Amino acid sequence: MEAVVYQGEKDVAVEEVDEPEIQHPNDVVIDITTTAICGSDLHMYEGRTAAEPGIVFGHENMGTVSEVGEGVSTLEEGDRVVAPFNVACGFCQNCEEGYTGFCTNVNPGFAGGAYGYVAMGPYKGGQAEKLRIPYADFNALKLPPGDEHEDSFALLADIFPTGWHGTELANLQPGESIAIYGAGPVGLMAAYSADIKGASEIYVVDRVESRLEMAEDHCNATPINFEEADPVEQIKDQHGGGVDKGVDAVGYQAIDPDTKPTDDAYDPARENPAIVLNDLIKTVRPTGELGIPGLYVPSDPGAPDEMAAQGRLGIDFGKLFEKGLKLGTGQCNVKDYNRYLRDLIVQGRADPSFVVTHRVDIEEAPEMYERFDNREEGVVKVLLEP
Ligand SMILES: NC(=O)c1ccc[n+]([C@@H]2O[C@H](COP(=O)([O-])OP(=O)(O)OC[C@H]3O[C@@H](n4cnc5c(N)ncnc54)[C@H](O)[C@@H]3O)[C@@H](O)[C@H]2O)c1
Ligand SMILES: [Zn+2]
Ligand SMILES: [Zn+2]
Repeated sequence: MEAVVYQGEKDVAVEEVDEPEIQHPNDVVIDITTTAICGSDLHMYEGRTAAEPGIVFGHENMGTVSEVGEGVSTLEEGDRVVAPFNVACGFCQNCEEGYTGFCTNVNPGFAGGAYGYVAMGPYKGGQAEKLRIPYADFNALKLPPGDEHEDSFALLADIFPTGWHGTELANLQPGESIAIYGAGPVGLMAAYSADIKGASEIYVVDRVESRLEMAEDHCNATPINFEEADPVEQIKDQHGGGVDKGVDAVGYQAIDPDTKPTDDAYDPARENPAIVLNDLIKTVRPTGELGIPGLYVPSDPGAPDEMAAQGRLGIDFGKLFEKGLKLGTGQCNVKDYNRYLRDLIVQGRADPSFVVTHRVDIEEAPEMYERFDNREEGVVKVLLEP
């Protein structure tokens, strides 16, 4: 079958790979109908992780069950399902407590597994024609049959729950104000979630105009372009002091607003891995809370300095302490939210598909990786159809 395979820095190719097989009685195999490219894939794509060539990418997967292991009791051939990007067992202590992003059974020596991702276990990615889903009774979320809401449901694998998770980590309550750094797919989903939850004011920070427009048009957010002036000052000017809550939907490859824009759409020379965390510490009022779904890594081969190469960042911890801020981090526990977010979509109360700007044949993956990586205007969420 065809799959998107990582070749090395800024290089993916569509290649023939072996088809997945049932390896355990509780596995299913699905025919992928939609799979997505994620900002998390870009960290690997850019050579900014320990990912080795040969990985089949793709952790945002949905499709139709085509093979069913003999121990599977709730799924049948033909069922339409979406798989959380996390691979989880369902019965370890973390899974039992809802922390399926930190399952201790699926990836020996590590808490958490995922499809097609460096260090996240042996699970092949789903940017391919087929995918094996382990612990399928637990991991596969059933969807209504047919092809309705295909774009929105595809976002249940990761970014809709992850954006929601950002607001949960920040403990956002109705009526509170919130600032979200990053208007990529995850930041937009955090803003959309904040709107659903009844935030009183939503500020979304980025530099890509078409992304900021989506935040304004679909999430009732106030766009803040950090290339125009210090984003902290811009938010404080409009809000009159610090906002209640903050979300980091950027992660360690953040651009420092204090550096000069260059012709490059996304220039690594402008990176400062602690800038968003430090801007959030300034943006949020004393005793506020921060949700940090943006990715941080324990080792970064392309880091701007030796400390950052080991995942050690210059965070203003003294300020954080002085303000009594709380923060929450980590992979999204997709299972905690995806059933409810699915039902919001089914009932017509949520339609996150506005972020989808491209649905293309899997053959176009190499070009779309490049364009998404450049944060090209008008390229936000890219869905692939094998
Ligand atoms: N925790 C999780 O479970 C989880 C799941 C999915 C993605 N992620 C992470 O979330 C992050 C965002 O993912 P995405 O798909 O939206 O990717 P993305 O790279 O498209 O979005 C990041 C956005 O941040 C903007 N940005 C850069 N520097 C900034 C700054 N200083 N202030 C404000 N905005 C800035 C960029 O212009 C870009 O639009 C990534 O780090 C990704 O790995 C985490
Ligand atoms: Zn993802
Ligand atoms: Zn588990």
